[in-house]
Amino acid sequence: MIYFDNAASSFPKPDSVVQAVNRALTEYGANPGRGGHRLAKEAATVIRETRTALADFFGLDASENVWFYPNATTALNQALKGFPFEEGDHVIATSYEHNSVRRPLEYLKKTKGIQVTYVNPDKENCKDAIKRNTKLIAATHGSNLTGMIVPIEELGSLTKEFGVPFLVDASQTAGVLPIDMKETGIDMLAFPGHKGLLGPQGTGALLVRPSIELEPHMHGGTGAYSELLDQPEQLPERYESGTLNTPGIAGMLAGLKEIKKMGLERILKHESELASYCLQGLKAIDGVRIYGPDPEVKRLGVVAFRIEEVDVQETAIILDQHYDIAVRAGLHCTPLAHESIGTADGGAVRVSFGPYNTSEEIDRFLQAVQEIKYGLGG
Ligand code: ALA
Repeated sequence: MIYFDNAASSFPKPDSVVQAVNRALTEYGANPGRGGHRLAKEAATVIRETRTALADFFGLDASENVWFYPNATTALNQALKGFPFEEGDHVIATSYEHNSVRRPLEYLKKTKGIQVTYVNPDKENCKDAIKRNTKLIAATHGSNLTGMIVPIEELGSLTKEFGVPFLVDASQTAGVLPIDMKETGIDMLAFPGHKGLLGPQGTGALLVRPSIELEPHMHGGTGAYSELLDQPEQLPERYESGTLNTPGIAGMLAGLKEIKKMGLERILKHESELASYCLQGLKAIDGVRIYGPDPEVKRLGVVAFRIEEVDVQETAIILDQHYDIAVRAGLHCTPLAHESIGTADGGAVRVSFGPYNTSEEIDRFLQAVQEIKYGLGG
């Protein structure tokens, strides 16, 4: 199998990740923070280590402000639904947001009466959209459809100039692009553990600067402070109700260590070179349309395309069933981005690369696309 669906979930996982999950399941995976015995303490230690490692990696001073969730979507829901919006408040988001940002915003529009403006993700558009009542700017760091990299450094400095908190969805970039919350002026950062960080599914995190006060989105057991009727004030408990995913978080920590070993620069270089090689190859096939930034512009390892006169779902099925190549077709949970690139009518086929893909795999994929368009020997 050639796996080109890393924007959905990275695969395969490093051995060290598999071993870390396995160790948690077989050696110490008791309930962290829910007992004083040796195994519960060992589980809690791994969770604490992961918090510290993530805070350190993403430039956040307070590791108790790293909160674990089952995925980036839950983290983004906490960030958005927990934000102290009042009726009439205004939010700016980009026209490349995933539904995990768009749907909570649309929900808040209906339930809290906030206003939302979606802008092309650059500094000028963002600046023009800022109003007196703008309370938050939310931006994806990289499009899950086209691989376009959003200049969060520029947006971050703008948000600081205007004193507006900045939320970044790093679902496609955590573990690929360097992110420093302090340097970039990011107030809230959400990401999954199972994509660029090479960890298991069922993991994600929200990192929040202490200056931001959120209302907890979930209520329930926190291990300690059980006598209180309300969520405790203590961090991270205030924002983490219910048993944490210890095996998953142990795997996420192992994934992070792999990323550090490989080096972000090397990972980005490899994946963006694969994207560029793939784009050149697709461009050379008549009747194939590619989307997104100019092929010369550096992007993540993500490429969207269509084969003229072949339905996108059919393309994906043929690639899977005849060529053993895994891709994702459709709207990719980001109809906004499809509107932005003009593919909202049916979507596109997306290939997305990870650190273990090779240019030889792309050669086989390009040959398959050529054959789907023109038949064998075409
Ligand atoms: N958001 C993920 C994707 O782009 C699941 O496929």
